Amino acid sequence: MERRTIGAGALAVGAVGLGCMPMSWAYSTSRQRGDESVRCVHRALDLGSSLLDTADMYGPFTNELLLGRVLRERRADAFVSTKVGLLVGEQHIVANGRPGYVRRACDASLRRLQTDVIDLYQLHRPDPEVPIEETWGAMAELVRAGKVRSLGLCALGARGGRRSGTGLHDGTLRQLQRVQQVFPVAAVEAELSVWSPEALRTLLPWCAARGVGFLAAMPLGNGFLTGTLTPGEGFEPDDVRARHPRFTAEMMAANQPIVAGLRRVARRHGPEVTPAQVALAWVLSRGRHVIALPGTKRERWATENAAAAGLRLSAADLAEIGRLPGARGSWD
Ligand SMILES: NC(=O)c1ccc[n+]([C@@H]2O[C@H](COP(=O)([O-])OP(=O)(O)OC[C@H]3O[C@@H](n4cnc5c(N)ncnc54)[C@H](OP(=O)(O)O)[C@@H]3O)[C@@H](O)[C@H]2O)c1
Repeated sequence: MERRTIGAGALAVGAVGLGCMPMSWAYSTSRQRGDESVRCVHRALDLGSSLLDTADMYGPFTNELLLGRVLRERRADAFVSTKVGLLVGEQHIVANGRPGYVRRACDASLRRLQTDVIDLYQLHRPDPEVPIEETWGAMAELVRAGKVRSLGLCALGARGGRRSGTGLHDGTLRQLQRVQQVFPVAAVEAELSVWSPEALRTLLPWCAARGVGFLAAMPLGNGFLTGTLTPGEGFEPDDVRARHPRFTAEMMAANQPIVAGLRRVARRHGPEVTPAQVALAWVLSRGRHVIALPGTKRERWATENAAAAGLRLSAADLAEIGRLPGARGSWD
């Protein structure tokens, strides 16, 4: 698989990584399968999808534990990205960016992941009660202590981001400028997909200008862009899509032209090529500093997604995707 670099330290990873969140978090719990997930991680590593993206809050904790089962056998094949800063409570999720907590959380992640170093340690969300420089300073200490290789920042989600300013990523850009004064940012993780292209406006150029890697989260639009979801089928109550404004039956139907466009492009590349692969190839075509992080718990889809790294979209393909209608349904 094509390799791409992250940050000035030039850490190399496969262009398509593996988002491990669906194995333990955000999607229906009833569909989680521990052993299949473990096989899925092995398959991804076999195919060169070396960047494994997790977080201590996925589960909470069980996603890191699951990865630990693989990493204890094949740490050298993987680039481990995990996150700190969000605590899952009974009813809500709270931020904690206190330096003492960050140090303890890192040690706990290392234990669960069964490794002695994390390749990329990301701040999941800044704590409004703690200056971000203090949190980032504690993370930088972890690099100096040899527990972490590089640091990343996750952008605010669509809801939090819009609240923070006029542009979706204004708040994140301000945070990035502040943390860069303390310790270099190696990567930024934020949503980027055919139906959520907002990061292209300011965040991607910011990263490109500084040699910072961009990790594209939700590149398959939470599964919608794969064309495998049926409008009106519904989601279990614990599935994030049950409350997502783009996943009502009405909005899923209204957004079908986007999937149809991806399918048209896929057909031009052969009968085996899927809309999911076109969606991933589009993400990768946005810059050499972009790594796609499709999430899955299935070997079959990890295989399909890894193959997207070899799909080259033509100028005509990109123009056609550029002409697709914008997505209907938003958090505003
Ligand atoms: N930093 C942050 O705040 C943040 C927020 C969200 C996500 N992320 C990261 O980004 C990663 C990706 O996001 P995501 O997983 O939410 O969304 P996604 O990658 O856009 O979509 C994942 C969904 O698509 C399905 N899928 C995957 N490949 C498929 C294929 N080839 N064909 C058909 N369906 C396919 C998966 O099904 P199965 O689950 O059944 O395999 C899953 O339901 C996460 O895993 C996480 O690492 C980060």
